[in-house]
This record gives sequence, C-alpha cells and structure tokens, in this order.
Amino acid sequence: MSEATPILSSLGLAKAFKGPDGVVRVLESVDLTVAPGESVSIRGESGAGKTTLLYLISALETPDRGELHWDGVNVMKKSASWRARRRGDFMGFVFQAYYLIPELNALENVLIARRLVGKVTPADRQRATELLERVGLKERLRHTGQQLSGGERQRVALARALINRPRLILADEPTGNLDEHTGDEVMDLLLNLTNEEQTALVLVTHNPTFAERTHRHLFLKAGEMQV
Ligand SMILES: Nc1ncnc2c1ncn2[C@@H]1O[C@H](COP(=O)(O)OP(=O)(O)O)[C@@H](O)[C@H]1O
Ligand SMILES: [Mg+2]
Repeated sequence: MSEATPILSSLGLAKAFKGPDGVVRVLESVDLTVAPGESVSIRGESGAGKTTLLYLISALETPDRGELHWDGVNVMKKSASWRARRRGDFMGFVFQAYYLIPELNALENVLIARRLVGKVTPADRQRATELLERVGLKERLRHTGQQLSGGERQRVALARALINRPRLILADEPTGNLDEHTGDEVMDLLLNLTNEEQTALVLVTHNPTFAERTHRHLFLKAGEMQV
C-alpha cells in the first residue's frame, strides 16, 4: 500500500453495553486501518460486534476507549456538528434492510442523501440518474420504494450511498435479505462501483465468497480484529 494517509484508522476501540443482566463487553480493542480506495471484508459470528464496530467507525456511537481518525483527523476531538457534517459527505452506508423512504421514488431516495449535505443542483439530479442507470434501474426511476423488489431497493441504496462521492462506504450484510442470485448481482455492483469510484469499502458479510473478493479479509473475534 502507498504512504497515503489512511482513509480510516482506529486504534484500541472498545465498547461495552449495559444490558439487563450486567455489562456486555462487545469490543475490547479494535485496530483497523483502511487505505484510500481499499476494500476490506469483516466476518465474525452473530453477536461478535460487527454492527457495533460500524457504528463506532461512523461515530454514530462513542467508544469507551480508543482513537478514531477519518482521513487523518482525530474524530473524537471534533464537535458533534462537525462529525455530522463530515460523515454526510465522507461516508456512504448500505444496510441489510435497505432503509429507503417507502413513499419516495428511487430518484428522490437517492437525492435525499444529497439534500442532507447541501442544495440539490441539476448536476446532482444528473448524477443520481446516472447512478441509478449504472445499477440497472433506468426503467425504475419513478417507482416508489414500495413498488420495488428487495434487490431493486438495495440497488437504490447503492446509488444513494454513492451520490455524495464518499471516500468510504460501510456495508452491513448488504445481501443478507436477498436470495442467492440477487445477492450475487448486488455484490457485483457494490464491488464494481466502489472500484470505479475509487471509494474505500468496509464490507461486513457472512458469505465467504463475497468476503474473499475484497483486497483484505478480516475476522472479528473476542472483541478484536484477527487477520
Ligand atoms: N445498544 C445496545 N445495548 C445493549 N447491547 C447491545 C446494544 N447493541 C448491541 N448490543 C449487544 O452487543 C453484541 C454485539 O452486537 P452487534 O454489534 O449487533 O453484533 P453483530 O453485528 O456482529 O451480529 C450483542 O450481544 C448485542 O446484544
Ligand atoms: Mg450485525
């Protein structure tokens, strides 16, 4: 890898939750460094803390200990409003459950992510349309979330994740709700688009075949990252 500043680096991230039966120590000390444009897969048993880690990486949750840097900036030293603003244009998210707004159409769902960081320009509409065409939804731009299949919804979510030209995409079991064939198609799109757009990718997946398609393959176990 080059000497470029990592797009993401975490050092010793720790997180415990207070549950009804006492404290659950989920993450003990997670070190993770991702270079610009690099793709990394993370596997781990259910409950290992993969989703928790993505929340910490995106600073939607605060770690109990440890450091987090986005493109060299120490995130926890910044204000909450700085983090919210920076998160919006620095990161894109793809979730297992898509999280589209069901009443809005595909184009509007993509542009929502743009509207959160600024005014939507004609160039943004153009890019949103192009992204939806690239994920194979040229004929579905005006279909609402409710009128789309699971695979189509996840394709809209991919376009939404990319609209702001993020440096990093976090994907949490993005094919978990899809049948095998549709999951393959969505994974091809995710890997190809992030590659074409030079966007780094952190991919949480249970599927070993998908996991092997990223540049690096990691496991989360006993609260730490294992190569
Ligand atoms: N907000 C929370 N409060 C209490 N416990 C939580 C919370 N979020 C996650 N946990 C617990 O942390 C553990 C890891 O959860 P999670 O990160 O969702 O795992 P994974 O995504 O690897 O399946 C689980 O045991 C879960 O019950
Ligand atoms: Mg999870």
